[in-house]
Amino acid sequence: MRKKLVVANWKMHGNLALNQQLLSAYLAQLSTLNEVDVVVCVPYPYLYQAQQILQNTSIAWGAQNISKAEVGAFTGEVSAAMLNDFGASYVIIGHSERATAYCESDENIATKFIQAQKHGITPILCVGETLIEREAGVMQMVVAKQLDTIINTYGASVFAKAVVSYEPIWAIGTGLAASGEQAQSMHEFIRNKIAEQDIEAAQSLKILYGGSVNPQNAVQLLAMQDIDGGLIGKCSLSAKDFVEICFAAAQSNATAQLIKF
Ligand code: PGA
Repeated sequence: MRKKLVVANWKMHGNLALNQQLLSAYLAQLSTLNEVDVVVCVPYPYLYQAQQILQNTSIAWGAQNISKAEVGAFTGEVSAAMLNDFGASYVIIGHSERATAYCESDENIATKFIQAQKHGITPILCVGETLIEREAGVMQMVVAKQLDTIINTYGASVFAKAVVSYEPIWAIGTGLAASGEQAQSMHEFIRNKIAEQDIEAAQSLKILYGGSVNPQNAVQLLAMQDIDGGLIGKCSLSAKDFVEICFAAAQSNATAQLIKF
């Protein structure tokens, strides 16, 4: 069984004092929750703070983007090696807020994905469709294309050491989450697509759901067979909400165990 993974995406929120409070509150509630892996993706300037507070705890930390380049004259960029210096073990790649605002191509995203892995950092690859694409019924085609750029260049086996997050763009920050069935159907599609080329990578791949997850809808979403956790934006800024979502993930693990035995 795949262990559930819950990732906080703080986006461009926080400051030293608030982060200290939030991380301490996470730790107070989550340090004994062994059934779920928890990761916090912070803005770059707070990586050092995250490392200081979270090292030797059960919570891992990461960033929200990296450069596709190794090193060099790239003003304003941050490399995978730099994330390593601060003990980051995950990085979000291709989030739609970046892909749209900074015109990131699938090719750039694929290079960043491999660059992270090269430095031992697990990429959390975001995929998902717009509302227009869903209404036109082409959402699977859109997600397939996003995955294909990586599969065709590097092979499906690279997904053995990665996380995919299905993030329908219409659900991000809108309060309108996908239903359990909508998300499950896309997660199954993603897993099958990887399985066509690499069954083992597909079976071990954690596929998260992201987009308006809250403590109320988390239980239903996380109980779905192919939903292995969540990427949590807004609700990760409230320790109470985030902790409740992590507990919902743990509960869905337990329910799956009961069904299994
Ligand atoms: P949200 O963000 O939970 O605020 O919708 C999710 C995300 O962007 O990953």
